[in-house]
Amino acid sequence: MKELGVGIAITGSGSATPAVCLDNDRLSEMVETSDEWIASRTGIRNRRLAAPDCSLTELADRAAREAIAMSGIAAADLDLIILATSTADDLFGSASTIQASLGARKAVAFDLTAACSGFLFGMVTAAQFIRTGAYKNVLLIGADILSRWVDWTDRRTCVLFGDGAGAVVMQACDRADRLLGFELCSDGTQNKCLQLPYQPQSTELLEGVAIAQGTYHPITMNGQEVYRFAVKRVPEVIEKALFRAAIGVDDLDWLLLHQANQRILDAVAHRLKIPDRKVISNLADYGNTSAASIPIALDEAVRDGTIKPGDTIAASGFGAGLTWGAAIFQWG
Ligand code: ACO
Repeated sequence: MKELGVGIAITGSGSATPAVCLDNDRLSEMVETSDEWIASRTGIRNRRLAAPDCSLTELADRAAREAIAMSGIAAADLDLIILATSTADDLFGSASTIQASLGARKAVAFDLTAACSGFLFGMVTAAQFIRTGAYKNVLLIGADILSRWVDWTDRRTCVLFGDGAGAVVMQACDRADRLLGFELCSDGTQNKCLQLPYQPQSTELLEGVAIAQGTYHPITMNGQEVYRFAVKRVPEVIEKALFRAAIGVDDLDWLLLHQANQRILDAVAHRLKIPDRKVISNLADYGNTSAASIPIALDEAVRDGTIKPGDTIAASGFGAGLTWGAAIFQWG
């Protein structure tokens, strides 16, 4: 294992999901679909939806408090807060609002957007600040409320997504570095496969002075393209991260993928020759919660004792951008 200056330990996790649960049968009352189609094609049975008065900040705050409590530090000890999200309450960013609600007075806070890869990108970003010695205690949150940006008349996308937040605390440590390797990738040439684009409406302020005002168009996705991309690129990027970590597939205790589709999880595990019992999945309960899916699944597995201190995990995020990445780390 490579030693890179200050070591990193992931010492706390937390998660929060909205109370309202929409199952496949009730969804079938809204669009022409069925529990059988959704469950067999995706593995999803339920998704949690944020009520109109629920903010992203509120969900993120709940997840963050759990992670901070598990790590044993105080919010006032945090040096940095990174909020990975595509659905901030405020287009200027929501990380500062979370900093204020937590009372993390000395922490610098910013948002990071990389869609469903956001948590992975955030973990690697946080690691750079810790390894350089700049910061010791980092709170990383992945949170999204995609239900606000889904076309609820489009059965090809609305069945997939749910809302939630997950968080981890990453700390500098004197022991061996627990982030063993990573690899991040982007391919903007395939951006159109998965978009939530701004839709400009031209307004003429004065003669010869036109600007655009408008809102965002709901999610559009070429499902088959994204599926093919994930099944090809995710095993590749995990293999690169394993190479950097100087360990093999057999050294992994858990495969923790972005929870997009059970068929993608199964295909990636199959390509890497990782047995099903090592694949973490909570898709049936929450669907695709975007940047929140990896930390929610991590937190649940830590709290129910599935993931134990010292376990080695390959995590991989993939999604809009297109973006994808993997990190090999040890819990605790
Ligand atoms: N219910 C019933 N029928 C449906 C539904 C539905 N909800 N959705 C699509 N269909 C129909 C289609 O209309 C099509 O019918 P047709 O053959 O008569 O045209 C048929 O089912 C097959 O459609 P496909 O798109 O080929 O279905 P597929 O097996 O590819 O599954 C899915 C679609 C689940 C979207 C899959 O392609 C997938 O999971 N793709 C990856 C999505 C993903 O991972 N996104 C992650 C990133 S998310 C982010 O970054 C925000």
